[in-house]
Amino acid sequence: MIDTEHRTQNTELRSQDNELIRCDGIWKIYNEAKPHEVRALVDVSFVVEKGSFTIFNGPSGSGKTTLISIIGAIDRPSRGRAYLDGKDITDFSDVTLSLLRRKRIGFVFQNFNLVPRLSAWENVSAPLIPQGIREKDRKYRAMQLLDKIGLSDRVHHAPEELSGGEQQRVAIARALVNNPDIIILDEPTSNIDVEAASLLIDILKGLKAEGKTILISSHDEGLFVNADIIFEIRHGHLAGSWVPLVHR
Ligand SMILES: Nc1ncnc2c1ncn2[C@@H]1O[C@H](COP(=O)(O)OP(=O)(O)O)[C@@H](O)[C@H]1O
Ligand SMILES: [Mg+2]
Repeated sequence: MIDTEHRTQNTELRSQDNELIRCDGIWKIYNEAKPHEVRALVDVSFVVEKGSFTIFNGPSGSGKTTLISIIGAIDRPSRGRAYLDGKDITDFSDVTLSLLRRKRIGFVFQNFNLVPRLSAWENVSAPLIPQGIREKDRKYRAMQLLDKIGLSDRVHHAPEELSGGEQQRVAIARALVNNPDIIILDEPTSNIDVEAASLLIDILKGLKAEGKTILISSHDEGLFVNADIIFEIRHGHLAGSWVPLVHR
């Protein structure tokens, strides 16, 4: 299964044919030059391949959420450069970055961030409202996605009427609503039970089979076997990477 004895070091940054995301010397410093300064990311460089299932592993506080937020264009690095499809996106304006996020990236937050008073289908379709898509079409798209992830019998439920696993699936459907090619999930198994985790893995495998690139922050070893590559984050540093034996 997972061969932990033969971890390969892959910290050297090199351009690849199937390169999707490249981070080059990324730093994130919170409260810079203040007494409570935190170096959350220190000179992190790596490449994510198109269509891969990539996991960022590390203990709590190591910088995983910070890193995937930067990859997901939710946050900006303090230093360093980020590339998407070989294009430097570091200095994109907020507006350009938000358009890119809408088109390319689906983000599933650790606590799902569903809107409490909206039903499942309304949550899923919410990202389509600013695009001026009429309700009938938004609802149709949301229903399609909820059906795809096995929640067609929960479309009118509010988040509080759903289990953790179901809430997460609504959040996944919402992340997919604009058909992004990059799906990012923060600690996806931390707020769901074992059964829901197994269902989640099936959903992620399906998305990968569709050609989507999956990026996850997680220290759940149960997920590792599904990954093409695992990057190890320690105290904000990229400490190395390894490939589970099943993929070699
Ligand atoms: N907004 C913030 N302001 C200041 N420090 C932060 C902020 N967000 C995260 N940190 C700090 O940065 C470090 C990395 O946090 P985080 O990326 O959330 O790690 P992980 O997701 O691996 O638990 C931690 O020490 C955390 O306390
Ligand atoms: Mg985190």
